[in-house]
Amino acid sequence: MTTDLLVDVHLSEDDLRAALEQDVRNGLGASPKSLPPIWFYDEAGSQLFEEITRLPEYYPTRAERALLRRHAADIAAAAGADSLVELGAGACDKTRLLLDAMAAHGPLRHYLPFDVSDEFLRSAAAGVADDYEGLEVHAVVGDFHRHLDRIPRKGRRLVAFLGGTIGNLVPEQRQRFLFDLNCTVGTEDHLLVGTDLVKDPKRIVAAYDDARGVTAEFNRNVLRVLNAQLGSTFDPGRFTHVARWDGDRQWIEMRLRTEAAQTVHIAQLGMTVDFEAGEELLTEISAKFTPSGVAGELWDAGFVVDGQWGADEGEFLLTLAHPFC
Ligand code: AVJ
Repeated sequence: MTTDLLVDVHLSEDDLRAALEQDVRNGLGASPKSLPPIWFYDEAGSQLFEEITRLPEYYPTRAERALLRRHAADIAAAAGADSLVELGAGACDKTRLLLDAMAAHGPLRHYLPFDVSDEFLRSAAAGVADDYEGLEVHAVVGDFHRHLDRIPRKGRRLVAFLGGTIGNLVPEQRQRFLFDLNCTVGTEDHLLVGTDLVKDPKRIVAAYDDARGVTAEFNRNVLRVLNAQLGSTFDPGRFTHVARWDGDRQWIEMRLRTEAAQTVHIAQLGMTVDFEAGEELLTEISAKFTPSGVAGELWDAGFVVDGQWGADEGEFLLTLAHPFC
């Protein structure tokens, strides 16, 4: 078996470390306190997320996969691409549905998965390279706020950003991200975005506050990451999981709440963090969208929509777009 795999690393361990330190200093030094969700995903956190995707309450992964299964052929035909770029590729797991559809439609030449996590990306990309004879796999380790322009310009590209991960960004960050993307794609390239849809808040809250408490463990895992990486003294058991729908901003928030006042030390930052009784630390927002909202945000960043799938079922949405200039 010949394996056609290249890996470019634009983010070193040192870069990641510096980013973690800065995020923790800023986020825990601020009021209200917050941490960006990227730090959930160490090995244990990635495993907990995988477990979340199999929970009865967590509908987005299943809904997106069903849409890809049903519509990947149409998407591949509309995009006419011979390269698939996957942002936040992770386990490269929905990738195959797109790759298969692209290969059925025309020549499939390149797969370019992009992620912050080196280990994870390397093994997942190798798996794809093994399974698709003749496919050139070129993995890129980077941060999509800084390294989008480093993704090789190979062939006519379909850039996929799936899973609803774009919802982890606040509107200003989304605008910035889409605009940056618009600057790096060619006029022949396409963008495929997966977004969760606004629906009955009860279902959304249940998806982020499951009965078995897996999401609660996932949320608390960020404290374990900080303990391991920065020598902090968080006792995860003293923080309770909160999932709250914000109807005005149309996003769900995950927070970690401490009932009693407590003080945490972060040895490697020489930092002491005081929590008041009842204080909450914001760990994630996950925005939910309407089809026209997604189209509007894309338009504002220079993209015109070719098609949307999933609006009728109202669960999850795939939007295909291309730059209008
Ligand atoms: C992987 C970012 C799409 O926002 O739904 C799952 C992460 N957080 N349960 C999401 C998550 C809580 C997930 N994304």
